[in-house]
Amino acid sequence: MKYISGFSFALAVTIFITFCNNKKESDTMESRQGITKTNWGNTDGKEVFLYTLTNAKGVQVKISTYGGIVTSWIVPDKNNATSNIVLGFDSLSGYLAKPPYFGALVGRYGNRIAKGKFKINTTQYTLVTNNGQNHLHGGNKGFDKVVWDAAIDNDATATLLLSYTSKDGEEGYPGNLKVNVRYTLTNDDELKIEYNATTDKATPVNLTNHSYFNLTGDVANSILDHTLMIKADNYTPVDTTLIPIGEIKTVKGTAFDFTTAKKIGRDIDNVPGGYDHNFVLSKTDTSLQQVAILSDSISGRLLEVFTMEPGLQFYTGNFLDGTFKARDGKPINQHTALCLETQHFPDSPNEPSFPTTILQPGKQYHTITVYKLSVNK
Ligand code: BGC
Repeated sequence: MKYISGFSFALAVTIFITFCNNKKESDTMESRQGITKTNWGNTDGKEVFLYTLTNAKGVQVKISTYGGIVTSWIVPDKNNATSNIVLGFDSLSGYLAKPPYFGALVGRYGNRIAKGKFKINTTQYTLVTNNGQNHLHGGNKGFDKVVWDAAIDNDATATLLLSYTSKDGEEGYPGNLKVNVRYTLTNDDELKIEYNATTDKATPVNLTNHSYFNLTGDVANSILDHTLMIKADNYTPVDTTLIPIGEIKTVKGTAFDFTTAKKIGRDIDNVPGGYDHNFVLSKTDTSLQQVAILSDSISGRLLEVFTMEPGLQFYTGNFLDGTFKARDGKPINQHTALCLETQHFPDSPNEPSFPTTILQPGKQYHTITVYKLSVNK
């Protein structure tokens, strides 16, 4: 009898331990795939949160409600070693020091509007000028420097919904603009960004994400050795203040020809200051299409860009000057990261020949961009 009860006790303990282990495993599974939230500090009297999106492979993207910033995207390389392929910081204070739009949602207007002035019909508007005489990326306090409201989409595995209402007159823009951005990390290692907006007065809208990529995950490696292909037969030349001069010029026979993949550094010496130009994508409709492929042989990583937008601002981090440091303390110098910003053309409100960026009341602004990461083994 004694023996049997001893045996039962041992069995009960075994069952209990097995149950606990299983539970532990299912808990880890849960925290592996999905989305989690942590407090990340305060600014503007508002609480800021950092969300971690994890897909089934364990790939993680972190997004802050301050600026809707993608703070990190950790992915494996060809040897299965993981690193962070975007510039960013681990604390809010890093962003409050105003790095140049690292990972941020940019709005109300991505890129420049000449002299901060434009007209809609006969009404003249004047925006804040924050880039010499021009308006850049939404002004002094663009969408990259506000705290967004956030919600988790419970019907999806790793989807974060961000929303922000930009008030009539903010940074000089007309109309109350309601913006929603939906970030999803898919199991195919795609970071999908879906933008929606509505307004109560006609206003320019041009939203984008300003992630800086270095596919090696190490800012000691220049992005001039990355290889890039852009499906663009034309680009918009700019004046000395980086405002398009209104022409659409062929890339053929110039340093701007990325129609066949080439090293970014190959022709950059022929572009004074480096690439900081809008490429006119060759796609002819607003469907979501692959428009660029970036790759790096050190890590084997490859990044595809898909967009519904007509333009791509290719920026080779020309103004990065070591002021900001990477997580490992290394200085973020010129050409140590690059941006592929999907958008309408810069200064469109002043260029009637460019596709319009004016959102009318009653209409829906809707655009999707996907960054898809893979590895060549
Ligand atoms: C612009 C650059 C600017 C950078 C950071 C890019 O989108 O084209 O001229 O320096 O953003 O602000």
